[in-house]
Amino acid sequence: PEPAVLVTRALVEEAMTSLSGRCELDLYQGPPDAIPRDELLRRAAGKAGLLTVLTEKVDAELLDAAGPDLTIVANHAVGFDNIDLAECTSRGVLVTNTPDVLTEATADLAWALVLAGTRRVAEGDRLIRTGTPWIWDPRMMLGHDLYGKALGVVGCGRIGRAVARRALGFGMRVIYTDVVRLPADVEREARVEWREWADLLAEADVVSVHTPLTPETRHLFDANAFRHMKPTAVLVNTARGPIVDEQALADALRTGEIFAAGLDVYEREPAVTEALLSLDNVTLLPHLGSATIETRTAMGLLAVENLFAGLAGQRPRCLLNPEVLARQP
Ligand code: GLV
Ligand code: GLV
Repeated sequence: PEPAVLVTRALVEEAMTSLSGRCELDLYQGPPDAIPRDELLRRAAGKAGLLTVLTEKVDAELLDAAGPDLTIVANHAVGFDNIDLAECTSRGVLVTNTPDVLTEATADLAWALVLAGTRRVAEGDRLIRTGTPWIWDPRMMLGHDLYGKALGVVGCGRIGRAVARRALGFGMRVIYTDVVRLPADVEREARVEWREWADLLAEADVVSVHTPLTPETRHLFDANAFRHMKPTAVLVNTARGPIVDEQALADALRTGEIFAAGLDVYEREPAVTEALLSLDNVTLLPHLGSATIETRTAMGLLAVENLFAGLAGQRPRCLLNPEVLARQP
């Protein structure tokens, strides 16, 4: 018999097509859009594979509910903070993500937020749409130049480096910080300079966040971090919401401690801290980092490829816990 698979959210059409005829498919189609927890626990039972999106928490409770046939959890995202990786590993369940294919799209969206923040793009659009009278004026809605300024990349992995590459086209220099410093030749090649955390905050005109969410990065941007930043600085977060303390950010934006911000992700997604909604100097997007037709197609196909590799007893391309395979006889 074909392996039983639960797919927790409908994927783009090409990915759905690549699933069909190769498994006994249980597709959650809503409503509501996200599978309710009790339904997830119920429908996971007896499955060999789970294809999950970032709203599904994959923890001991879900693994218990799935049972001993579960071989692989294929996450349709590069981030995997929704998954208890150690718990999966200890039970011999493979876990995969979808890196690389979304790097450029996410870097583009980070830049959309950089430009929105420095040049007040969304605020200007709102002004026009609300019918507010305006006339060209030398002092109207002034932002900040990017040319000649410093971009600070926090987390210089695949996406951080793609964001850094774009900065060179804008005539910016790039500084970065990360838990491990890049090798000197990689720094030279990428034209990025290492800074300590506090130095990066003090020097950067634009700060863009590209770290995974871990206990160490939760609320990395808190009231203390904003105090270290320039009053002209713009903060962009396309990584994970809880890396930024939203209430502290709202305070910093309101008091002018920093100039502007752009968020694609939220602490309690899809909820947004109320205080941000009334501020003109923050641009708010609904988690669109990888939301292009090309990228979502590639992500969907990659998640499906990972899923079937795991189900077939092969090593999936994007395996996050190779220890599981090493342990098998
Ligand atoms: C999206 O947020 C992802 O991690 O792919
Ligand atoms: C502005 O529109 C200019 O021409 O300088």
